[in-house]
Amino acid sequence: MKLQGKVAIVTGGASGIGEATVREFVREGARVVIADVSDAGAQLSQELNDAGFDTAFARADVSDEAQVIKMVALAAQRFGRLDIMVANAGIGAPGMNIAEMPLEHWRRTIDINLTGVFLSNKHAIARMQQQGQGGAIVNVASVLGHVGAPNAAHYTASKGGVVNITRSLGVSHAREGIRVNAVCPGFIDTPMLGPSGTPTREHYIAAHPIGRLGRAEEIAQAIRFLASDDASFVAGTSLLVDGGYTAQ
Ligand SMILES: NC(=O)c1ccc[n+]([C@@H]2O[C@H](COP(=O)([O-])OP(=O)(O)OC[C@H]3O[C@@H](n4cnc5c(N)ncnc54)[C@H](O)[C@@H]3O)[C@@H](O)[C@H]2O)c1
Repeated sequence: MKLQGKVAIVTGGASGIGEATVREFVREGARVVIADVSDAGAQLSQELNDAGFDTAFARADVSDEAQVIKMVALAAQRFGRLDIMVANAGIGAPGMNIAEMPLEHWRRTIDINLTGVFLSNKHAIARMQQQGQGGAIVNVASVLGHVGAPNAAHYTASKGGVVNITRSLGVSHAREGIRVNAVCPGFIDTPMLGPSGTPTREHYIAAHPIGRLGRAEEIAQAIRFLASDDASFVAGTSLLVDGGYTAQ
């Protein structure tokens, strides 16, 4: 098992890529704090604990520093330490022409997708520094942190920010044994993408040379790789897991 004895927090762990990551992590031996604004996180924690795994639920909005502090404290209280932070929580706010985009729409996306990553990284790294035994951070960015898309100024700016904060923290903390990396998914079949059969989904499928959307489990495996000692020489990078989307 690749994560035996490790304690992890997965933000946005109640659904989609986060949920798949929680399931992958417990299978690989980790104890996991599932952090989310949704009650589905409590149900997932209960289900996994009933199956013999060790998880806890933290109700936390990642854009609120007080709640992030409590979330990190819960890992320490419940499991005694923190080894891995997966900063995955994010929203795919509706696309909009910038000329019509209310400031509030921009701010909400940046607050959750970028400031949420800043706060989750800040408090996880502080805890890891206190422990003095290194750690691993995996931020969930997007292909849209590397390339543009129509009517997505807010989302692409937030994810471009995640790619670059990852570089910056990666070089800042590598010597402390804290590896900070990001995964950049292509379009993945999660609730964020909406119901199947819609024109938008058909458009997304066509945009991937591999000819389909990604599965949440395929992103979870990449996150697990970066979080584990298998990635012991990987720092400050963004791993594209995108079915060839950005290679075209
Ligand atoms: N689905 C895709 O195509 C895709 C592609 C690239 C990147 N991503 C990124 O992957 C991450 C996960 O997305 P997903 O597709 O699994 O979406 P999802 O909607 O299935 O899951 C997102 C989870 O985050 C939680 N969340 C939302 N705001 C939060 C907040 N403020 N604090 C804490 N939790 C919050 C939601 O409750 C939900 O459980 C996001 O950062 C998203 O931008 C998704």
